[in-house]
Amino acid sequence: ILLASASALVLGTAASAQVVGFSQIGSESGWRAAETTVTQQEAEARGIDLQFSDAQQKQENQIAAVRSFVAQGVDAILLAPVVATGWDAVLEEAKEAEIPVVLLDRMVDSDPSLYLTAVGSDLVHEGEVAGQWLAEQVGEEPCRVVELQGTTGSSPAIDRAQGFRNGIEGHANIEIVQSQTGDFTRAQGKTVMEAFLQAENGGADICALYAHNDDMAVGAIQAIKEAGLKPGEDILVVSIDAVPDIFQAMAAGEANATVELTPNMAGPAFDALQAYWDNGTEPEKFIQTESKLYTQADDPQGEYDRRKGLGY
Ligand code: AHR
Repeated sequence: ILLASASALVLGTAASAQVVGFSQIGSESGWRAAETTVTQQEAEARGIDLQFSDAQQKQENQIAAVRSFVAQGVDAILLAPVVATGWDAVLEEAKEAEIPVVLLDRMVDSDPSLYLTAVGSDLVHEGEVAGQWLAEQVGEEPCRVVELQGTTGSSPAIDRAQGFRNGIEGHANIEIVQSQTGDFTRAQGKTVMEAFLQAENGGADICALYAHNDDMAVGAIQAIKEAGLKPGEDILVVSIDAVPDIFQAMAAGEANATVELTPNMAGPAFDALQAYWDNGTEPEKFIQTESKLYTQADDPQGEYDRRKGLGY
């Protein structure tokens, strides 16, 4: 009888898996796909039941997904918001239902009291690092820059644009002559770069490309090669993410620098959630991940090999 009641006690107190809804933007880039993989791996390692929803780049799909997680009564929601505005109502609904929301990698313009915490990098700083790197490379030489921006209205597009401008501030020889969105995709990066090349004397007037992510840079590198120019030499290429493909391009001398964005936002997010579930610990409102600059001098082949095992 003692044994039976002891096992009943154990069964009765065994914790059931926490259910977490994850509203992901889509799979626009290699980095995004890696973030999805890493989030699934981190959830599995912790015994969390992750409910995944792919919004196919549409905010309305994300809002519908969050509403459905709230209706389900999940234990928490991870939200990678495609754009920065328009979240107040749905975040209020989650708060009303006492479901903590953690933002992943992108920010929202809403009041911070509407989410538990946000895990991400300093997006302005990333752009500053890219701009400062370029300023150092060109010195006093005149440099006409073309810029491939990320998704219009997204926090990385807004902040990386601002950061780059901060980074080149005071260098009157550096001028941004073309700037357009490539929506963070390789295909659009290539198409928009083709238009830039055409507008800039076949590319002869372009000194450098700044792309808000590596995927757009990789697409643009293809366009530069097709125009008969050497990316990395005729046109310097600096971008953000540090995905394996940009290291391959760097190893081939076709890209010059990238600023790392870790795809593991979920690890710190789940740590914060666990502490909140366990004893109500409120995390900092912003949990910052590291941003590191890599150049051709940083063993790009080795970095490529290393990243292949990290969810990419
Ligand atoms: O929000 C992070 C950005 O989104 C990454 O830099 C980009 O690759 C992704 O699509």
